[in-house]
Amino acid sequence: MRMKADNRNGSNSVFRVLLSYAKPHRWTFLLVFGCTVLAISADLAQPYLVKIAIDDNIMVGRNDYRSLLIICAVYLGLSVAGFLFTYLQNNLLQYAAQSVVARIRKDLFAHITKLSMSFFDRTPSGSLITNVSSDTETLNQFFSQVLLSVVRDGFTLVFIIVIMFQLDATLAVYCLILLPIIALIAIGFRSYMRKTYQNSRTALSRLIAFAAENLAGMSLIQAFHQEKEQTNRFTDRNQIYFSANLREIRTNVLFNRSFDVLGSLSVAFVTWLGGVAVFDRTIEFGVLYAFITYIRQFFQPISSITQQWNTLQSTTVSVNRIWNLFSVQPEVKDPERPYDADWSRIAGKVDFDRIQFGYSDGMPVLHDLDLHIAPGEMIGIVGTTGAGKSSLIGLLCRFYDVQKGSVRIDGIDVRELPQEKLHRLVGLVQQEPYLYAGSIVDNVRMFDESISREEVVRACRFVGADALIGRMKDGYDTMLSERGSGLSAGEKQLISFARIIVFQPKILILDEATANLDSYTEQLIQRALKAVSAHRTTLVIAHRLSTVMQADRIVVMRGGRIVEQGTHAQLLAQHGYYEELYLHSRGKAEIGAG
Ligand SMILES: Nc1ncnc2c1ncn2[C@@H]1O[C@H](COP(=O)(O)OP(=O)(O)OP(=O)(O)O)[C@@H](O)[C@H]1O
Ligand SMILES: [Mg+2]
Repeated sequence: MRMKADNRNGSNSVFRVLLSYAKPHRWTFLLVFGCTVLAISADLAQPYLVKIAIDDNIMVGRNDYRSLLIICAVYLGLSVAGFLFTYLQNNLLQYAAQSVVARIRKDLFAHITKLSMSFFDRTPSGSLITNVSSDTETLNQFFSQVLLSVVRDGFTLVFIIVIMFQLDATLAVYCLILLPIIALIAIGFRSYMRKTYQNSRTALSRLIAFAAENLAGMSLIQAFHQEKEQTNRFTDRNQIYFSANLREIRTNVLFNRSFDVLGSLSVAFVTWLGGVAVFDRTIEFGVLYAFITYIRQFFQPISSITQQWNTLQSTTVSVNRIWNLFSVQPEVKDPERPYDADWSRIAGKVDFDRIQFGYSDGMPVLHDLDLHIAPGEMIGIVGTTGAGKSSLIGLLCRFYDVQKGSVRIDGIDVRELPQEKLHRLVGLVQQEPYLYAGSIVDNVRMFDESISREEVVRACRFVGADALIGRMKDGYDTMLSERGSGLSAGEKQLISFARIIVFQPKILILDEATANLDSYTEQLIQRALKAVSAHRTTLVIAHRLSTVMQADRIVVMRGGRIVEQGTHAQLLAQHGYYEELYLHSRGKAEIGAG
């Protein structure tokens, strides 16, 4: 509710959230503020010191070497102080800014991992990559550039104006005539600069999203000889980004140079007015010198503040995108009052109670499905592609929630179980097992350090993966690259099998897990499966009916419904759909063999 209200209020409240992230670093930011003021004072005092040297020493002709020397020493001291405070200010600010952004990035990633599968069904991963990488980078710029510029340049301007009035009010008033002209130029450029900036940002995020998508599907591109087409499509996006970038740079250069020209004009202006005044002896020469120096310094902060305006705009866009993502609530939520039980007592009874389910598009995939599984039972699930087998077990893992009916484990609705507990109870080996970049050991224990190496080795031996791992370069410490490339599909299956064994789930689900294994390895797995499934409820989805022939019960699915169930022999005796499937697969096997 609160998040929704925030969105409606727009950027204001978003920045309030940003502020809450900055709050733990408030002392650092305060220190940065102090250092900035000191650094500016030290820098701006320098021309004033030279003015004193000129007017009070050099021009009076007293040949007072000692005072001159002191002034020079103070000047030097001021430079050193300016350097020190600028250094401190930069370091402190960077520290605080980077900490804030790192924290946001971490929270964002943690938030994304909690979102439901339905969210990932509709959100391309490329756009999430942009959120986590370049949007947080924009935030970084906000803290390290915008904030700094507003404080530093703002103060510099105020200081310079005050000093100019101190030096000579008349000349200062003349200089202020320039301000409206500056404002006009800045405003004129502003909207154009914002547009070019945003164009290049959008082009960049499109480019990143495209690259991410293609890298993920590289084998497909090569298999279909799409290298040229995809490279062409990439080149298009690259070209757009290139032009957008160039346009942005050109605008920036034009803007900066206009300010430089304006700066030079004002120097000429001041030199003329001030020079005449020096001739008339209404001002001293040192004052003119200081004026010329200050008026030069006057333009730099204005141009830099104007430029930050664009970063500020894009920060608003990025922050909004990040907060929109933060405000997405997982559809599958932990219960408010989670069911608490002695988890070791869970027997593994599974009930699908007249469930109805469809993915977000609303088309029902499972219709009024009723299935009850006794603890320790081994169920085979068969059916053609798209029958809803994976969807069914996805509900048991609670990747999605049912629309009608309920899924229960030992009589407890899965919606009442804390998800963490549920995923410990239910172990899933998927159609395409996913391996992470990391060692074999870490892949088997899923980076959970509380599981010992011995347990991993035991599990691998149990599923018969140790021979395979023994052949690898570094054995159990062999590093796998992303997605486990370098391993065959069957090898990945074996490793994901070991993964399941290590976690000791009460309910074991194999989705097509034996499809990629050769018959020797499949036998290994079958034996392992028999051993593991002995004390657990096991659901095995298979196209190859030989895999599930041994099951206590076989459930036949068709079009989101259970059409037949029973043992292999009972089903064959029915001469129904199962027999059709069976004969078909037998026929295929014979054709394959023959
Ligand atoms: N993430 C998803 N979003 C929308 N529809 C989906 C999604 N996943 C599956 N479906 C649809 O749900 C139906 C059932 O798919 P499911 O994956 O459960 O089939 P399956 O029986 O596991 O098939 P297979 O044997 O090919 O694995 C299909 O019509 C499919 O198009
Ligand atoms: Mg499936």
